[in-house]
This record gives sequence, C-alpha cells and structure tokens, in this order.
Amino acid sequence: MSTEHQGSSGDSRQGGAARQDSVGRQQGVFRTKTVEQSIRDTEEPEHALKKSLSALDLTVFGVGVIIGTGIFVLTGKIAKETAGPSVALAFVVAGVVCGLAALCYAEFASTVPVAGSAYTFSYASLGELPAWIIGWDLVLELALGCAVVAVGWSGYMRSLLDTAGINLPDFLSGTHDGKFGFDLLACILVLVITAILVAGMKLSSRVTSVIVGIKVTVVLLVIIVGAFFITGANYKPFVPPTVETEGGSGLTAPLVQLLFGFTPTSFGVMGIFTAAAVVFFAFIGFDIVATAAEETKLPQRDVPRGILGSLIICTLLYVAVSVVVTGMQKYSDLSTDAPLADAFKSVGHPFWAGLISFGAAVGLTSVCMILLLGQSRVFFAMSRDGLLPKTFSQVHPRFGTPYRSTILLGALVAVVAGFTSIDELAELVNIGTLFAFVVVAVGVVILRRKRPDLPRSFKTPLVPLIPALSVLASLWLMLNLPAETWLRFGVWMLIGVAVYFVYGRRNSKLGKSTAAAPK
Ligand code: ALA
Repeated sequence: MSTEHQGSSGDSRQGGAARQDSVGRQQGVFRTKTVEQSIRDTEEPEHALKKSLSALDLTVFGVGVIIGTGIFVLTGKIAKETAGPSVALAFVVAGVVCGLAALCYAEFASTVPVAGSAYTFSYASLGELPAWIIGWDLVLELALGCAVVAVGWSGYMRSLLDTAGINLPDFLSGTHDGKFGFDLLACILVLVITAILVAGMKLSSRVTSVIVGIKVTVVLLVIIVGAFFITGANYKPFVPPTVETEGGSGLTAPLVQLLFGFTPTSFGVMGIFTAAAVVFFAFIGFDIVATAAEETKLPQRDVPRGILGSLIICTLLYVAVSVVVTGMQKYSDLSTDAPLADAFKSVGHPFWAGLISFGAAVGLTSVCMILLLGQSRVFFAMSRDGLLPKTFSQVHPRFGTPYRSTILLGALVAVVAGFTSIDELAELVNIGTLFAFVVVAVGVVILRRKRPDLPRSFKTPLVPLIPALSVLASLWLMLNLPAETWLRFGVWMLIGVAVYFVYGRRNSKLGKSTAAAPK
C-alpha cells in the first residue's frame, strides 16, 4: 500500500519538498517542523535509537502497559460507587472512545514514525506551541500515570506481604485517609525500573514479555475460573437506579452535571458515562505504542498493527473480567483495594485469590516500566528539538538509550509515587490523555490537507468523520470528569505555556534554523 502510494505521488512528493522550504520559513509559535525533518533528525548518529522492535513486540508492549491498575483496582471501586454491573458497559464506552482515537493515532504514527508520539505529530501539523503543549501534557499523562500504577502495585505487594506475616510500618505505606506517609515500595519500584530502562530497550522488552505473559494468564484465569462462580441474581439490577451524590454539588461533581445544572448523581445511565471517564484509565497505553515508532523495524506497517491489536485484545478482556467479577459478588459488596482477588475470597477460594494478587503485582510492574519508557522518549524528542535542554537527548554510548532523561524523570516519578495518593492523580492523567486524543484527531485532518503527498501506510477511514467523532467522544468523557480535575489540568498547562515562552521558544532548533535561513 505504501509503495503504491509513493509511486503514484512522486511529483507531489517533490512538491512536498518545495513546500517544506516555505513551511521552514514560517516564524513564530505556529512554525511547523516538516515530517521529512523529523525523520532526518532520527538519523543523526548521536541521537539515533536502535531499531529493533516488531509488530509483535509492540503488541506485547501495548498489552503490557494497557492492562494494569485500571482493571485490577478501579473495576471494583467504580462498580461499587458509580455503575454497578453496568461497569462492563462503561468499559465498552471507554473502549469505543479509545478505538476512534486509535484510528487517528495509527495514521499519524505510520506517517511520522519518530519518537514522541502525539508531540511529534502535532509539531508536524499544528505548529510548535501546540506541540509543546501536547508534549507537556504527555509528561503529565505518563509520569503521573506511572506514579499511580506504582502506588497501586505497592498496595498489592503489601497485601501479599501481610499474608506472609510481614507488615510495613504505617509511615512507610504511603498516604492514606488523610494520614501522611511515604510509600517506600512504590518509590523503590520506580527506581529499579529506571535502572532497567537505562540498561537498554532490548532487556526491558524481554523482561516485559515474560511479565505480560503472567499478567494475561491471570486475567484469563479470572475470566475462566470465575465464570463457574457467577450467580445470576448479582446482575439485578444491571443498571442500578440513579442516586443523588451527597456533597457532590461542588468541585468534585462531573463538570457536565455542573454546567447543565443537574443534581450530581451516581448510577443510572449517566453513571455509566461518569464510570467510563474513570475506567478510561484502564485503556491508557495504546497511544504509547506510537512513542516507540522510531525503535520499530517497519514502523509504517507494524505501528498501526501494534496499536489496534493491543487495544482490541484489552477491550475484550476488560468486558469479560467486569462481567465475571460483578457476577461473582454483588456490586455493593465488591472490595475497592483488590476486587478481583477478593471476589474469589468471597466465594471461598483463597488460593485463587493469592495467585491473582501475585499476578497483579507482577503485571503492574510492566505497566510502570512502559509508562516511564514512553515518558522518557517524549522528553527525549522535545530536547532533541531544543525545546528542553540538549543534555536530555544525548544517547548512552553503550546502551543506546536516552539515559539522562530516563534518570531525571525516573527520580522525579519515584518521589511523586512515594508521596502521593492514587485517586485524584488518576483523573488528572485521564483528562491529560483525552486532551491529547483531541489534538491528534485534529492533527490528522490538518496533515491530510497540508501534506496530502506523504506516504501513509495506514489511513484513518472516513476522514473527517472519524476524527470529528473522536474529538466529540473525547470531549464528552472529559466533561464527565470532576470540575476540580479541570482546574488542576488548567494550572498545569499554564505552567507549561510559561516554560515554553521562557525557554523553548528561544532555544528551539527549528526557530534557530528558520531565523538563519535566507529570506
Ligand atoms: N492502563 C494502565 C492501567 O490501567 C495505565 O494501569
């Protein structure tokens, strides 16, 4: 497909080169980096990453990062507090939103196969400031996402240690119920993962494959073994009747309810959407497959396969797990810490529960690892473009990894994971990710107009309909997040814009080259 396209567009590709010059002369915050320039940059020897990944590696990466705290922890909490058994429908809603976004991501990743994901895509289509904003937003998604998962992992580990009779003191078990503490295990996990990532992609990819195998086995085990313990009565009512939320009239209520003057509620049909906006966290990760495009042998073919493949597998597993778990135990009795394992305890099978806890703890490790990997690659791409200090895009002479950005970010995430509690962070991560989806969908349409000549081995179907639906669906989920999450997100983005104007704008490699170019 790509050969055919290239062959038929030889002339327009030359036209593209001419346009590149004119684009290169654009000044100001909307200057765009050409796709050709992005790809050339990856070939500079001191900035080159090893190209070693296949479609299967990418799918394993995808599944490795997608299945995590979302399904292992949030399913129970959301079923119990927001949606009942209809949490399965919330997974379908979130899966559809992600599917629409994935169709856009896949086109972009196959057109601009360089590190940095949505950041790189935006630089090629929307301009430097929007690209910076999206890069800054991805830092929020990936770094905080990693911290959230590390804290979730630590919870499962403590539960396993408790079973073995080892108890960590409270002050080393993180912040709980307003009581301040340091989460030692979460912090250690992030530091160990950082070391693995610095040592090289190959090692981390191999370790990931084993972990993903264990995790998927445990999830299948929940579905297959759990199916024997389903009681039909637990599904009644499948969509529990609407309940007014106490004290939910303030900033903790979903923005959509405040905007339209509804009384904030849980359950009912609206509850499915509120639930979808939270369980959306369970899908975060498929977009990260695109951040590894530069390290893929055949990115044009394999990146779209990796993205869509991992998303489809995970959606099917999530729906099955939530149907089984809410069938095993009444939704109002589900545990909020380890719902999958505790559902087995509730039907009198502690052995299975222990096995599931173990698998969950192992599985969450790979999620942290890939989130941190994606994060360091975005940072790397931003630094290579001069928007962040150059030192972060130096590749390690022996390991071929961007070790400085990995170490810096790993250390920061370790501190955040040590000192922060899960809940609000997860919602902040979701809003940041949904925002990136909106930008990518808009970017697909813009790049089609600006550069119709570029070879696209994967094309988003029905443009501009699918990107438009993707924008609307992502915005809808964003509106279902609490008002206070919007506020926090706004503050983070304002800080980002300030950093851009103080540092990035002046040091931008593209800015310098366009200023030097003959007029
Ligand atoms: N999707 C990942 C999780 O659920 C981030 O943990």
